[in-house]
Amino acid sequence: MEVSGQFDKLLKAAKEASLNAYAPYSGYKVGAALLCRDGTVFTGCNVENASYSLTICAERNAVFQAVNAGFRDFVAIAIYVDSDKLFPPCGACRQVLAEFNPAMEVLYANRAQICRSNLESLLPQAFTLKS
Ligand code: THU
Repeated sequence: MEVSGQFDKLLKAAKEASLNAYAPYSGYKVGAALLCRDGTVFTGCNVENASYSLTICAERNAVFQAVNAGFRDFVAIAIYVDSDKLFPPCGACRQVLAEFNPAMEVLYANRAQICRSNLESLLPQAFTLKS
């Protein structure tokens, strides 16, 4: 599968997922769409909590949905935030993504811009226990 050919579909799925975000505290509604090597897509949104540190980011929500469904071979993730700010994945999400593919493609977009990167650039010398 050619990953870049899936980017439009992935961004659309991330944008749709952001509609379900529960973000009454920050106001930032984030959606993520994770592409598996076989073409399957899993989505996630951020879910905030009055006890702020319990908040889960959209990216980790998507990863956990996928792993729970038996999928671990991820090739790309798209992140959309309904804002003028850009949300590249936070450090915790970078580490969780690197567990499954430290070289995956990463797209992050907002209302006005789309940025393309990859996890090797976003998390160089990632900690892993895999050989
Ligand atoms: N957030 C994400 O969903 N993904 C990130 O990579 C960065 C931050 C969420 C968490 C919180 O609900 C809101 O954005 C503001 O930090």
